[in-house]
Amino acid sequence: MLSGKRILLIIGGGIAAYKALELIRLVQKAGGSVVPVLTRAGSQFVTPLSVGALAGAKVYQDLFDLTDEAEMGHIQLSRAADLVVVAPATADLLAKMAGGRADDLASTLLLATDKRTLVAPAMNVRMWDHPATRRNLAALRGDGVLVVGPDEGEMACGEFGPGRMAEPPAIVAAIGAALGPGDGSGPLAGRHVLVTSGPTHEPIDPVRYIANRSSGAQGAAIGAALRDLGARVTFVTGPAAVPAPSGVTVVAVETAAEMAAAVAAALPADAAVMAAAVADWRVANAAGEKLKKGAAGIGPALEFAENPDILAQLSQSAQRPRLVVGFAAETTDVVAHATAKRARKGCDWIVANDVSPGTGIMGGAENAVTLITGAGAETWPRMGKDAVARQLALRIADALAG
Ligand code: C5P
Repeated sequence: MLSGKRILLIIGGGIAAYKALELIRLVQKAGGSVVPVLTRAGSQFVTPLSVGALAGAKVYQDLFDLTDEAEMGHIQLSRAADLVVVAPATADLLAKMAGGRADDLASTLLLATDKRTLVAPAMNVRMWDHPATRRNLAALRGDGVLVVGPDEGEMACGEFGPGRMAEPPAIVAAIGAALGPGDGSGPLAGRHVLVTSGPTHEPIDPVRYIANRSSGAQGAAIGAALRDLGARVTFVTGPAAVPAPSGVTVVAVETAAEMAAAVAAALPADAAVMAAAVADWRVANAAGEKLKKGAAGIGPALEFAENPDILAQLSQSAQRPRLVVGFAAETTDVVAHATAKRARKGCDWIVANDVSPGTGIMGGAENAVTLITGAGAETWPRMGKDAVARQLALRIADALAG
């Protein structure tokens, strides 16, 4: 998926620099090539020898290396790439970038480039939380710099919190998304993918309804990630708290019954990702008029009828997409329940997440998922919903290519 793409990789000075080696390997596996730049601090953590050997390329380190200047000036070096990636991006590198400094090779390349830049921050949690870092990051985002991570977790310094560099597969996914087409290319070009997202609203009467806490954030991120890989996306969404992604065909629905109809109408599709939190029941005796308070002080008795299971129906449909992916929001025995759900619903994969109170996942920015396929269960590290979406989109592209 990174076929023929050239990544200028700036390796900053942090303990996470060792992960840059894995990143080089993964970029190459995806068909791309890496031109490595090692900062002085970076060379305290990984050696130029190992970086150069893995990249199969010269490692650039010094601005005033005349041979390099003769061979390829820093301007040219920064522009020959398709994307500039900084991993790990230390607090100091981010500060330099935000300030427009150019006092060494890395910062000069970052200032001279005409390509997009993706940073993977890595630092101690307090440095990450510091107002100066917040300010620098906001400025960089404003400049159009892309950011992946950091993840939350145990840090090398013994503290806990956000600051761990994103895992290399997530960085590769972000690279793929950054280079993503919009030009009819990409691994999902020519594919139609159907995504459902958000909650459903089941009316009680014309003004009241039953809903759930799904924000639609994960579904929207999946729609965007599939689009970035070149897919034509039909995005069927209930009333979500987050906006639908741009560049996709949005079908807005309210109830599960409407969603089922919209899904059927969107077929055929090459793949479907059913990320919606569909209400299991609708109110069977929904009132046509607004319900009034009774004189006796007793509330109305609601009767429920089961909604159609859209995922199960799609999995059995004559027009079944080649790959059907369901979601499972569980609070206990996540893997066991999700594995049973995969079999029961007849879908190919289940993306299971633990939505127990306290995980902060429902409505939050992060997700911790286990992917259940025919081959077994794979637990992914906790990461941003965007990163989960990019990784899932890449897996879908792989599956449809095979
Ligand atoms: O059974 P449960 O609701 O936990 O299953 C979740 C998965 O099934 C999700 O992919 C969801 O979109 C889908 N689903 C559905 N129709 C329903 C209920 C759930 O498509 N009525």
